Amino acid sequence: MELVHTGKVRDVYTDRGDLVLVASDRVSVYDVSLPTPIPDKGALLTQLSAWWFDRLADVVPNHVLSTTDVPDEFRGRAVRCKRLDMIGVECIVRGYLSGSGLKDYQRTGAVSGVELPDGLVEADKLPEPIFTPTTKASEGHDEPITFDDVVAMIGKDDAERLRDTSIEVYRRGAEHAASRGIIIADTKFEFGYDTDGTMTLADEILTSDSSRFWPADQWQPGRPQHSFDKQFVRDWSVSTGWDKTPPGPEIPDDIVRATRQRYIDVYERITGRSWER
Ligand SMILES: Nc1ncnc2c1ncn2[C@@H]1O[C@H](COP(=O)(O)OP(=O)(O)OP(=O)(O)O)[C@@H](O)[C@H]1O
Ligand SMILES: [Mg+2]
Repeated sequence: MELVHTGKVRDVYTDRGDLVLVASDRVSVYDVSLPTPIPDKGALLTQLSAWWFDRLADVVPNHVLSTTDVPDEFRGRAVRCKRLDMIGVECIVRGYLSGSGLKDYQRTGAVSGVELPDGLVEADKLPEPIFTPTTKASEGHDEPITFDDVVAMIGKDDAERLRDTSIEVYRRGAEHAASRGIIIADTKFEFGYDTDGTMTLADEILTSDSSRFWPADQWQPGRPQHSFDKQFVRDWSVSTGWDKTPPGPEIPDDIVRATRQRYIDVYERITGRSWER
């Protein structure tokens, strides 16, 4: 296998013409990857994503080839996938108002060109899930773009398919998660074209690294919400007085354990399986 890319959390290899995505146990908070791993996080997120791909396969074709045909050292936290010609758009879907969407709304009343009703507050549920794409910058920050920008990039038919598919995958995922007490406030998808031109869902889907997960029983619009799983690390990192710039602080054992348990909790709630490694 040849290493072709290292992200904040995952490594990407090519192998026999396929791509192998390998998730590490690194956790990133405030966009900084912390030095202490959370044991099993990579496996938990890889297997959650794989579970979603399988469950939502009737909505759209996806890139997964195998979760077992991977090198032994990565087994459990790697996925072999079709190497696609990626579409350079981060397909963000928002069901709730948070993060950069909230900031854009407060400034302009719209998010990525989608007008929203007046008077919404932080963490409000939106009347309908909205598609708020951004560029996929290789360096620096992703910039919001409008649906018309996506049309200019890939044409009207494909742009509509990208938007409608993203919203449908979100709807189906959010509905299931809600039945297990988890709000998926927003999420990001990536798509690419297969060799025969089929638009295909790629990357990872509906994990807490690509989405905002909130505990439904604590949801209260008008204030910031707590992330279901990362919150222990986040709260603790702030409590140390860390200034949110690299390097991040070492995480103590009890915080590591509590955080790992929350990742397990999310996996078990959503998939209905018990976690065994
Ligand atoms: N099936 C696929 N074919 C080709 N490229 C893919 C496929 N699935 C995912 N990718 C790409 O693989 C890369 C995975 O990298 P990764 O997400 O780990 O890091 P990153 O996006 O560069 O940074 P960050 O850590 O901020 O996410 C992304 O560039 C993604 O677009
Ligand atoms: Mg990425």
